[in-house]
Amino acid sequence: MSETLNDIAQAMVTPGKGILAADESTGTIKKRFDSINTESTEDNRRDYREMLFRTDSAMRSYVSGVIMYDETLRQKAADGTPLVDLLKAAGSVPGIKVDTGAKDLAGFPGEKVTEGLDGLRERLKEYYDLGARFAKWRGVITIGDGMPSAACISANAHGLARYAALCQEQKIVPIVEPEVLMDNPGADHSIDRCDEVTREVLKAVFAQLAEHNVALDGIVLKPNMVIAAKGASQQASAEEVAAKTVACLTDCVPAEVPGIAFLSGGQDDLEATHHLSLMNAAGPHPWNLTFSYGRALQAPALKAWGGQKANVPAAQAAFAHRAHMNGLAALGQWSQSQEQAA
Ligand code: 13P
Repeated sequence: MSETLNDIAQAMVTPGKGILAADESTGTIKKRFDSINTESTEDNRRDYREMLFRTDSAMRSYVSGVIMYDETLRQKAADGTPLVDLLKAAGSVPGIKVDTGAKDLAGFPGEKVTEGLDGLRERLKEYYDLGARFAKWRGVITIGDGMPSAACISANAHGLARYAALCQEQKIVPIVEPEVLMDNPGADHSIDRCDEVTREVLKAVFAQLAEHNVALDGIVLKPNMVIAAKGASQQASAEEVAAKTVACLTDCVPAEVPGIAFLSGGQDDLEATHHLSLMNAAGPHPWNLTFSYGRALQAPALKAWGGQKANVPAAQAAFAHRAHMNGLAALGQWSQSQEQAA
């Protein structure tokens, strides 16, 4: 029997596992490598991702799927094994970022709209042949003076829905990612403002998904948590972030959605783990709640690696630890003492 979209989506949100977002575009990975004084060459990018994908203890036990960038999906490990095959061998579903980036929204200074629909059907066919079984598209919503505009919300929701429909047509599970930013320059909004905007955005996204006949049991939602801006003077407690995020999702996300995998969005790694664990401890919820972290899963490994081959074991240990802690959080079983014990 062939695998349905729902089978794949369920595998992506297997209890106790989550998604590694390793789909930094060439521009973004350069910024990450700059922070460790490492040149962003094709080989260095490959070595870094290969190091993560070969961290067996993390991959087999805690990573259900990996989001890659176009270059990575086509790359081979140093020994010639396609990186996709490393993921499959570890029991992890290969995924691919398919949007072509958030661009300035004409007529709305400071706001973005995500591009990438032109030719997407053909690209999805190729990605499927290369082994991808899920995709990701990120829409970006900025809170600020007079922002977000209705135009920004509706343009991004429309793009997400058209992308999701094309993915499902090609037997690929769409990760639907509407991100309300917490770390845009100058952002100082409160948790309540984030709550209000996140609700408005999620309602618009699910209205568009319905209008475009997207099957909700064959998607994974990747939202921001409900949280104050990084630059806000008043920060909410972890308990408040968890409670407000769950309440927002309960009101806005239909129960047919199999899973919700959060982005970390600029939260520090322990915070992102703590929030997820609190939310799961307050379950059960209609959907599985897990992580799809980029920075919050990779930051300690990136730092420990520092671009040096000799540091690979230390970096893999750092990645394995964060993956383990987030795996516990996906079950609501993380605690600060486990963090210290390890
Ligand atoms: P962060 O967890 O670093 O926000 O990245 C997740 C991601 O995939 C953003 O699109």
